[in-house]
Amino acid sequence: MSVTILKHALITHKLTNIRKKETNTKDFYHNVNEIASLMAYEITKDFPLKEIEIETPICKTIQYEMKDELVIVPILRAGLGMVDGLRNAIPTAKVGFIGLYRNEKTLEPVEYYAKFPDNIASDDTITLVVDPMLATGGSAIAAIDMIKKRGAKHIRFACLVAAPIGVDSLSKAHPDVDIYVAALDEKLNEVGYIVPGLGDCGDRLFGTK
Ligand code: PRP
Ligand code: URA
Repeated sequence: MSVTILKHALITHKLTNIRKKETNTKDFYHNVNEIASLMAYEITKDFPLKEIEIETPICKTIQYEMKDELVIVPILRAGLGMVDGLRNAIPTAKVGFIGLYRNEKTLEPVEYYAKFPDNIASDDTITLVVDPMLATGGSAIAAIDMIKKRGAKHIRFACLVAAPIGVDSLSKAHPDVDIYVAALDEKLNEVGYIVPGLGDCGDRLFGTK
């Protein structure tokens, strides 16, 4: 298990854009996707490669290509905001879906949808679960529980903004999952929002409030 906090000036700059309360829906969505694209480079940098013989215009040569397939699984709704950016970086990735929402009183995740590509359980598939926000960690833990039940083996989790308690809970619940975080914030407030955070990510992405 590893926790990687991405340190990159472009990512920090774009995070500031989405933290600002005056950022509109269009710019918010655009920046979330750009951050997801940038994160793809770090998340995939150690993906296994396999040897392949090819022919250049000059000669035959042994080169390398990705060994495994990638399945991106956004946690609905807000995870959808990261999918286009990740697919721009990795166009061959397949996409599965998990629908969860937090009960606003108990903060417990409630499942309402699940659909995965057939290769989710393959030994040669890496599954990347994405959600911009890791607050209590309840949603990510439940989503990964569900994916493991479908047979997924090599799982990574990526989020934009995390609370320390969320990272801690997810690491303890799923110690085999590598976690990638664009920003580790201070804490959760009394109603489960990340501080300073960026507010309700789903609402800001889709203009629902
Ligand atoms: C948000 C967010 C995560 C979850 C994080 O979703 O996108 O899924 O909260 O909180 P947690 O770590 O405490 O579980 P929300 O439940 O608001 O649903 P939405 O994406 O449909 O807006
Ligand atoms: N979900 C959000 O959208 N924002 C938070 O700060 C916490 C959970």
